[in-house]
Amino acid sequence: MNIAQALNLRGEADSYERQEAMWLLAHILEMNALALKLRLMDQLDAEHEQQYLQGLMRLSKGEPLAYVIGSQPFWTLDLNVTADTLVPRPDTEVLIETVLALDLPFSASVVDMGTGTGAIALALASERPDWRVLATDIYYPTLEVAQGNALKHGLNQVEFICSAWFNAIPSQKFDLIVSNPPYIDAEDIHMQQLHHEPRRALVAPEQGLADLRDIIVQGKNWLNPNGWIVLEHGYDQAKAVQAIFGEARFSHIQTVQDYGNNDRVTLAQWCDQLVLN
Ligand SMILES: C[S@@+](CC[C@H](N)C(=O)[O-])C[C@H]1O[C@@H](n2cnc3c(N)ncnc32)[C@H](O)[C@@H]1O
Repeated sequence: MNIAQALNLRGEADSYERQEAMWLLAHILEMNALALKLRLMDQLDAEHEQQYLQGLMRLSKGEPLAYVIGSQPFWTLDLNVTADTLVPRPDTEVLIETVLALDLPFSASVVDMGTGTGAIALALASERPDWRVLATDIYYPTLEVAQGNALKHGLNQVEFICSAWFNAIPSQKFDLIVSNPPYIDAEDIHMQQLHHEPRRALVAPEQGLADLRDIIVQGKNWLNPNGWIVLEHGYDQAKAVQAIFGEARFSHIQTVQDYGNNDRVTLAQWCDQLVLN
């Protein structure tokens, strides 16, 4: 089988499925997509053909490409991904852009709660080498993937702690708390398409709001004056998240849209209460 015939096995020309086949084959042959297109008549050897057909089989069962090839680009980083981690999403880059636009101290202390592959913590550490970044996750195998990604990108300033939200974090104050916590309701129809990813990364009680609430309500005790909490949430949760921030007496509550114009990130500042009163 040559490369052109291999690509023809999945999807129509110009379809997303064909594009995925191209990324898969490029990964297996260790070449970029452009080089692949220039070598359409090259024959695949038996080993590569076998790997490719197995990969196509997994894709056809709905498995994300990132799990099949073991990595996913996020921000400027190529992150290793396993079945223990959520696949980082492009919309989460909106959270990174939002954070980088904030006026934070030069050596800000930052915690990324529920770090998964380390996507948020590592992207921020790569952009702000002087920030002290802590990354947490409740599941140790997930944290190992994140630690591997930190090593891969030489981001040695990031520390990791296995913790259920704030429970195991040593007492300290942060200038910034960020999180993309589980926020999908267990009954949400989208869960049917997400069955390859860990449920612990996706689902939260109270219509998906329980973890967002915990981080906001506990988080204010962990913030320096004028510190920020920046949270990713579902497209229909902005009002509820704003209300939780409001009840917890945060200031400067605002929501940012993702690249599809959906409400995606809500942030708020913990102003010095003595000054406000
Ligand atoms: C939606 S994923 C986000 C992963 C990553 N931050 C990202 O944006 O790609 C949520 C992460 O939170 C972790 N998690 C779930 N419950 C947690 C808890 N109670 N404490 C800490 N982490 C938790 C999951 O293991 C998962 O890695």
